[in-house]
Amino acid sequence: MKVAVIFGGSSEERDVSIASGLEVISAMRARGHDVISVDTARGLLSADAERKLKGFKVLENHPDSTDLEEVRSQLPVAVVNTPELKDVDIVFIALHGGTGEDGTFQAFLEVSGIPFTGSGRVASTIAMDKDISKRLMLAASVPTPAWQMCNPADESIEVQLGYPLIVKPNAQGSTIGLSLVRQSSELRAAVEKAGKFGHEIMLEAFVSGREFTVGILDGHPLAVGEIVAPNEIFDYTSKYQRGGATEIFPAAISLAETQKIQDLAVRVHKALKLSGYSRIDFRMDESGQFWCLEANSVPGLTPTSLLPQSAKAAGIEFSELCERICLLGIKQHNC
Ligand SMILES: Nc1ncnc2c1ncn2[C@@H]1O[C@H](COP(=O)(O)OP(=O)(O)O)[C@@H](O)[C@H]1O
Ligand SMILES: [Mg+2]
Repeated sequence: MKVAVIFGGSSEERDVSIASGLEVISAMRARGHDVISVDTARGLLSADAERKLKGFKVLENHPDSTDLEEVRSQLPVAVVNTPELKDVDIVFIALHGGTGEDGTFQAFLEVSGIPFTGSGRVASTIAMDKDISKRLMLAASVPTPAWQMCNPADESIEVQLGYPLIVKPNAQGSTIGLSLVRQSSELRAAVEKAGKFGHEIMLEAFVSGREFTVGILDGHPLAVGEIVAPNEIFDYTSKYQRGGATEIFPAAISLAETQKIQDLAVRVHKALKLSGYSRIDFRMDESGQFWCLEANSVPGLTPTSLLPQSAKAAGIEFSELCERICLLGIKQHNC
């Protein structure tokens, strides 16, 4: 098939997206498909430009707004100036965060009549909004930690939850802008840090305990994984630096626990109307209860990312996973 892998974007997760995009490009080529590559900020990449990205590594710190200024000014280039997108069988969206994951880009492709991978515009918008996602989880009887919303402009924040709590932006990924707050004196700084990534801030009950994730492909659960991070939080560094966290697939939990968390993950995938594939994150408390933290509609897509590991432990190699994601996108477009 003819595939355009689109990656880069202008969110703080740009580096992660470049890493995902490059892996998807080589996996799809390895399976014999005709692949073009498009950076949303630069447009169609020549073979030479692609070669220059070889060996690209996600740095220890995510790019900040100064680093992203140039790509942000260039953003519409790819979508407007790449007529080649019209001629492909499928656009593989390897964009994380921002307009690439929140439904904006999906809406553009929908109105353009171009088939694309993963969830449509509505589900993408919902999954990017943690507050709305959690309301739908509760409606689907999936436990999610208690939470309240606040605005960094509020003069005083009345905390209805006990400490410790987690403060995070409502619509970010990769643990960017997130803090663990142990006492009220730390709250203001945490809210301001999160406030750099949007005005809607979530305060959420901290669930101490083990962390799990479940990949979903075509509505079915893949293997459950456990993440053992060096600190209490699975942060940006432990997510993307070698040796940052130990990731165990399949997780060492009982069959009953495996079935329970897989069932919860599928319920979240359906409640949020996600399609194609997704990855759902959980914590397990000391009593063994699972709490859903969030759903990822475009999870990381390098072979060592969590969804590909979840697929591999279920017998699906990375290149097959990429191909199946494409075929699901084409099927979705045609029905
Ligand atoms: N309520 C919570 N209790 C415990 N840990 C949390 C909680 N919320 C987030 N975390 C930690 O922060 C990480 C990132 O949070 P998450 O809600 O998944 O946002 P994102 O991955 O989109 O940045 C989680 O993987 C987990 O380690
Ligand atoms: Mg997460």
